[in-house]
Amino acid sequence: MTKNYRYHDIIHTIDIVFDLNMIIKNYSSIYLLTDTNCFEKCLPKVKDALSEQIHIYIIEAGEKNKSFETLQLIWSFLIEEHANRNSLLINLGGGVVTDIGGFAASTFKRGIDFINIPTTLLAQVDASAGGKNGINFNGLKNEIGIINQANKVLISPIFLETLGDDEFLSGFAEMLKHSLIYDREYFEELKSFFYFDFKKKDFSKISELIKSSVLIKEHFVKNDINDKGIRQTLNFGHTFGHAFESLINKSDKSNIKHGEAVAYGIVYELHLSVKKVNFPEIDLIEISKLIFDIFGEFSIEKKEHKNIYNLMLHDKKNTYKEINCILLKNIGTPLISNKISEHEIFDTLKTVSI
Ligand SMILES: NC(=O)c1ccc[n+]([C@@H]2O[C@H](COP(=O)([O-])OP(=O)(O)OC[C@H]3O[C@@H](n4cnc5c(N)ncnc54)[C@H](O)[C@@H]3O)[C@@H](O)[C@H]2O)c1
Repeated sequence: MTKNYRYHDIIHTIDIVFDLNMIIKNYSSIYLLTDTNCFEKCLPKVKDALSEQIHIYIIEAGEKNKSFETLQLIWSFLIEEHANRNSLLINLGGGVVTDIGGFAASTFKRGIDFINIPTTLLAQVDASAGGKNGINFNGLKNEIGIINQANKVLISPIFLETLGDDEFLSGFAEMLKHSLIYDREYFEELKSFFYFDFKKKDFSKISELIKSSVLIKEHFVKNDINDKGIRQTLNFGHTFGHAFESLINKSDKSNIKHGEAVAYGIVYELHLSVKKVNFPEIDLIEISKLIFDIFGEFSIEKKEHKNIYNLMLHDKKNTYKEINCILLKNIGTPLISNKISEHEIFDTLKTVSI
């Protein structure tokens, strides 16, 4: 059964205390999940909406805590603090907190209400819509989870004030992806934001840009909640991007953020788009320049090409022994289900190498 997608439940607000107050006044017992960083940097921004009776649970910050062990601790906390079927869980944090908190709430007593307050740009433009919740398991990312919409999602730019540039740009890469799969005009706005506003540290336009991204994400998820059709368009940049992320983060010496890996994935997948479906070369040059200006030049050493190929083969988004990739015919015209041969992968890795 496909649930309806309640897209109007995402509220963009500049008065988070007021909006949070309006929602939580309907609940008699309230629980809040956050992480160590957000406890310090984000909780003070909402605390005026919360009474002293609220029960707070703080998990360690970081992806490694999106785990079964942490999930058990959250369930135990809810039990010990007498949460019941009418309780509300507020998830205040980045994608780690909203993913694991959404999963904890969806499974506790077969499901209690939860609201998400995403505090990173990535969580605001990506994790906020689509209802995916879950944990990493046995070393596999997002292996266990459920699709279940939050009762409300509150998005406010005030949380971004304390976010580092690297975290900000990781979210910005997903916004670039949204623009490329949907709308050239939005791409131009993002380009101008990066070269002019971001450099001057002027974030006054960010709210409007976040709204555009959330609308685009909703466009792709609302008719395909279970991720079997057009929702896959959102994987643009991720076939190569995931492989880059896995390869680089496996080594102890270096680290790459998800958004940055996706941005480089976009460059490689656009090279493929030029070759296979005539994506305009002039746009490839412009987009690659923007991505390299944001994140720096990037290429994969020849000795790693085979490893990248193997990682792509084992990506769970691919069917066995066949690599699928989203390509673009033009900016705003994505094509899904393109089979990519081994030769084409190696050829692209070679072309982009510098
Ligand atoms: N559910 C979905 O549809 C979806 C979509 C995209 C990503 N995700 C998941 O989201 C996770 C990544 O999300 P993320 O990038 O937000 O990571 P994250 O939650 O780990 O946050 C990144 C870092 O920023 C800190 N932080 C959060 N808000 C802050 C703020 N306002 N000021 C200062 N520091 C702050 C966090 O404590 C953490 O250290 C991954 O687990 C990914 O699988 C889920």
